[in-house]
Amino acid sequence: MRGPTPRLGPVVPAHVATTRHLCAAYPMVSEAGLGHAGVVVGRDVLGGSFAYDPFALYGDGVITNPNMIVLGQIGRGKSAFVKSYLWRQAVFGRSAWVIDPKGEYGPLAAAWGSTPLTLRPGGPIRLNPLDTGPASGDDDGAALRRTSLCVSLAVSCLGRDLLPRERAAVDAALAAVGPPGGGEQRGSVPHPTPRATRQSTCRPAPTLPQVVDALLDPTAEAAATLRTTRTALVEDGRDVALELRRLVHGDLRGMFDGPTTPGIDLAGPLVVLDLSAVYHSPALGILMACAAAWLQSAVTAARRNRILLVVDEAWAILGDLGVARWLQSSWKLSRAFGVANMAVLHRLSDLASVGAAGSEQVGLAQGLLSDSETRVIYAQPHGEVARSADLLGLTSTEAALVTQLHRGTALWKVGRRSFLVQHHLSSHERWLVDTDGAMSPTGPLPGDVG
Ligand SMILES: Nc1ncnc2c1ncn2[C@@H]1O[C@H](COP(=O)(O)OP(=O)(O)OP(=O)(O)O)[C@@H](O)[C@H]1O
Ligand SMILES: [Mg+2]
Repeated sequence: MRGPTPRLGPVVPAHVATTRHLCAAYPMVSEAGLGHAGVVVGRDVLGGSFAYDPFALYGDGVITNPNMIVLGQIGRGKSAFVKSYLWRQAVFGRSAWVIDPKGEYGPLAAAWGSTPLTLRPGGPIRLNPLDTGPASGDDDGAALRRTSLCVSLAVSCLGRDLLPRERAAVDAALAAVGPPGGGEQRGSVPHPTPRATRQSTCRPAPTLPQVVDALLDPTAEAAATLRTTRTALVEDGRDVALELRRLVHGDLRGMFDGPTTPGIDLAGPLVVLDLSAVYHSPALGILMACAAAWLQSAVTAARRNRILLVVDEAWAILGDLGVARWLQSSWKLSRAFGVANMAVLHRLSDLASVGAAGSEQVGLAQGLLSDSETRVIYAQPHGEVARSADLLGLTSTEAALVTQLHRGTALWKVGRRSFLVQHHLSSHERWLVDTDGAMSPTGPLPGDVG
């Protein structure tokens, strides 16, 4: 049956073109997409599906590092994106290792058939953050990583930079307690493949209690190395020792103060470190840095390329200048180990409370951003966008746009390219990512985590 004849005159036929042609027709508006490599994230709002694979894009030269920062206001879908992204990576046989400060990755871990490693003071699992991975022959590199972590923890605990003599005391203590580096028994970092026999002859990795003891009771040799007396060296290292002691004897003991618990299974595709027991601790950033240090050593020991290492709620580390420095320097190493880092935070000003132009905080934010060529930006408030548009490299149109994004939609900046992407969740994935349970009438009570 025919309807009434329209009075609007001849209808102009719709313009149909491929996204490749649209790019030529509307060069400043339309993007060709990143290709089809990797998992589908969702819908490119300008048309087509949006897939992303940091390793493929790195190989193609689109990005020069595989790291990602995910930013956005509370409840906008940051963690939901990360969880479904990790879930979809299963298709490619990729592994993911997650630091989970809110204890919300349990369903995802269960779906992968793994159990989160739950860390709590006095709990059954200990991780040694001074493990440095396999004996690689790179003793200097391993020793530097240990020193860098101990110094960062001390700076963070003391709330100030170390004096040169304190720094020297830390160096001397580490030299006294450990192998030069990289030579520890592999038992210290669980390994999914059979161990090489030569490693059983190596000394074990030092632990934080040993470092504290060496600071409080240095050897005469350590003092001689620094051309000082034992008494003076005790004084130099005393404040650092007393602060680090908190991880060893204080309220945080029993998590990072001994050799790594044997038998931890890292062979599975997903390893989750659940830190929800200490989520409200003022020391959360320090504890997350210890967990991240251990994970990094375990990643290198596992010798598996193309691993995704996620730090959710990364503001806790990045808001603390001491450990934020450490995280930034450790990200630089990741490429060499085939690791793509993903950090989730609320806003750029989480980065050690981004300070005045030229401040160390701004330098840190810039450094971390230049080491994270993929930025996934969910909705941000006006004030925050005004503060961070330059750092994020947003055009004025993009800056206006990110204040209006709905839950699940994000502006993706991948290298020099921009995409507006609506993250799509399948019905099978919703239960993996739901963090709104407590908002429903029948939802869990506070404390029913995971
Ligand atoms: N793309 C989406 N489609 C539908 N629902 C979504 C989507 N993304 C997130 N949600 C829902 O929104 C809720 C909040 O998401 P999520 O936990 O990822 O927020 P968040 O940004 O990580 O918040 P926070 O900053 O508090 O950690 C979840 O219950 C999730 O199911
Ligand atoms: Mg979240």
